[in-house]
Amino acid sequence: MHLRIAPGDLTETVVDAVVNAANSSLLGGGGVDGAIHRRGGPDILDECRHLRETTLPEGLPAGEAVATTAGQLPARWVIHAVGPVHSTREDRSPTLASCYREALRVAGEIGARSVAFPAISAGVYGWPMDDAARIAVETVRDVASRQPTEASGVEEVVFVPFGADAESAFREHLSD
Ligand code: APR
Repeated sequence: MHLRIAPGDLTETVVDAVVNAANSSLLGGGGVDGAIHRRGGPDILDECRHLRETTLPEGLPAGEAVATTAGQLPARWVIHAVGPVHSTREDRSPTLASCYREALRVAGEIGARSVAFPAISAGVYGWPMDDAARIAVETVRDVASRQPTEASGVEEVVFVPFGADAESAFREHLSD
């Protein structure tokens, strides 16, 4: 599994699957979630609504991931992952790491060979960017070390930081 960085807009990233920083409702929101639904069009929300009406009546718990169509996006799938809201009282790092692990598991299941991630939880959910980038890179590297049993078939992971601070945080951890 090859890891690389491509700063910019996740919705324009040309990969098989883009990972959405969703919320548990799966019914859209701001940030990258808003951008994906805006640019991807209504087919994504239609599939999310169908998931809520069938297999996910309670919504998608934090740390978990589920795939839908990517609608009009260049990607073929959106893998929705729900990040934890940052807390100073409890360490939710395992839940944030689970977003990356589960998204890559789902990617392996659907046959995605390339996957692009935003900095999950590092926006509205308040996670400090440097730590969010560290967890992202460490977790993806750990999954890569366990291939082919985990995320088999995923050949490339692209980190798509948004903004200069995010980019330098990811570049720093990718060079570790
Ligand atoms: N491309 C790449 N990254 C983006 C984009 C984009 N188009 N838009 C925002 N980002 C970045 C943000 O700058 C941040 O670094 O994605 C990272 C995650 O931020 P959010 O999208 O706010 O996601 P998160 O912090 O996980 O909060 C999730 O926000 O948008 C709502 O519905 C979403 O309730 C959920 C919550």
